[in-house]
Amino acid sequence: MEKPSKIAPAKGKLGVLLPGLGAVSTTFMAGVELVRRGKAQPVGSLTQMGTIRLGKRTDARSPLIKKFVPLAELKDIAFAGWDIFKDNAYQSAANAGVLNPQDLEKVKPFLSTIKPMKAAFDRDFVKLIDGPNIKKGKNKYELALQIKEDIANFRKTSRASRLVTCWCGSTESFVKPEDVHSTPEKLVEAMKSNHPAIAPSMLYAWASVTSGVPFANGAPNLTVDIPAIQKLAHDHGVPICGKDFKTGQTLMKTILAPGFKARMLGLDGWFSTNILGNRDGEVLEDPGSFKTKEESKLSVLEYILQPQLYPQLYGKMHHKVRINYYPPRGDNKEGWDNIDIFGWLGYPMQIKVDFLCRDSILAAPIVLDLVLFMDLAQRAGMRGIQEWLSFYFKSPMTAPGLYPEHDLFIQSMKLKNTLRWMMGEDLITHLGQEYYD
Ligand SMILES: NC(=O)c1ccc[n+]([C@@H]2O[C@H](COP(=O)([O-])OP(=O)(O)OC[C@H]3O[C@@H](n4cnc5c(N)ncnc54)[C@H](O)[C@@H]3O)[C@@H](O)[C@H]2O)c1
Repeated sequence: MEKPSKIAPAKGKLGVLLPGLGAVSTTFMAGVELVRRGKAQPVGSLTQMGTIRLGKRTDARSPLIKKFVPLAELKDIAFAGWDIFKDNAYQSAANAGVLNPQDLEKVKPFLSTIKPMKAAFDRDFVKLIDGPNIKKGKNKYELALQIKEDIANFRKTSRASRLVTCWCGSTESFVKPEDVHSTPEKLVEAMKSNHPAIAPSMLYAWASVTSGVPFANGAPNLTVDIPAIQKLAHDHGVPICGKDFKTGQTLMKTILAPGFKARMLGLDGWFSTNILGNRDGEVLEDPGSFKTKEESKLSVLEYILQPQLYPQLYGKMHHKVRINYYPPRGDNKEGWDNIDIFGWLGYPMQIKVDFLCRDSILAAPIVLDLVLFMDLAQRAGMRGIQEWLSFYFKSPMTAPGLYPEHDLFIQSMKLKNTLRWMMGEDLITHLGQEYYD
């Protein structure tokens, strides 16, 4: 891809469309409103708090990322969403129980105005929940056209100059890529004939991309990770990215595993279990949805540790992931990891990680960064898969035949180098020989 010659300025409003008004999206919206009112800090957000080094270490140039690249400002963001439940964003946030009542009270009037549009929903894909706020149509294609209308209406009513969609809906049942996903024409035919391999999230993706709206996928569903949508993204000049926000346990894995590999420490096994009690946990009780999540969580270690290159160190590792729905915990998940490593002469050691995390608190800043970076990418003329945003995902999308980078530090370097490249700055290789000439 050629370096963007010119990046259009972030003029006017940015409309954010969220399929799924649950724990993550309401925590994100409430947070943005609290931050813009000066009542909280955007902790965890690279676009808001991160800096980027430019030039040599001796140059002392490390601007804030938001000052370096032309990002939309928080004050210019407007929100809309879809959900199968009729609760407005305040009621949904109160129900999710992530933010405390004092924080929610401060943004109650704002959140109460965000009412979900009717969802395109199919219980074959999310078995354990059902709701009353659902679109009706002859076939899946009609539902997708209704979503396109919603998008056009929001563009008008919000007076947004640009839009971005971020899927924050439930995890759908596992679907393998099939022939119906291979071209835009076959996809439309399959929507018209109600083909069982067309998930609701694909309808939102099709509607967004064909409306010229970038689409980020926060769940492990296939959604935009199919050739038909990728071709449409190219044709419509639309950036897409996914899949599955990298938050609690997988974030830890992609921080620790690169360290073991860098020091050539071996790994016999990694056992991960989670207890969580939010709606996401409830949906993941269904084996179909769990399989989608499991595939996403399991791939990480294989790619980071490369057992084919290091058979003595990683050839026999056992990797298990469990998710248990346990209502008393709500959104405050607990992730346990037992890691069996070995060192010099094969002597075994163990590491235990007990992460008492807050799922949506970790996910909300990711939604913010993705929305802002996807808007930037579109203004810079970048289209199709945005691999530089792998940093935010458990299963990063890549060009066909390319293996994904899971190592958080490689991902971070890739992201920052992409920003430097976009702005015509030198890339940073960390070679540093010039300091010793
Ligand atoms: N740290 C995290 O929280 C995290 C990390 C990685 C991925 N995710 C994924 O993000 C998604 C959202 O997580 P959450 O905790 O907010 O879940 P949630 O259950 O609180 O919210 C999801 C919402 O989506 C709605 N929904 C389901 N199908 C829909 C459809 N077809 N159209 C519109 N709305 C629909 C549900 O009614 C629900 O309100 C999940 O897929 C989850 O797996 C979350």
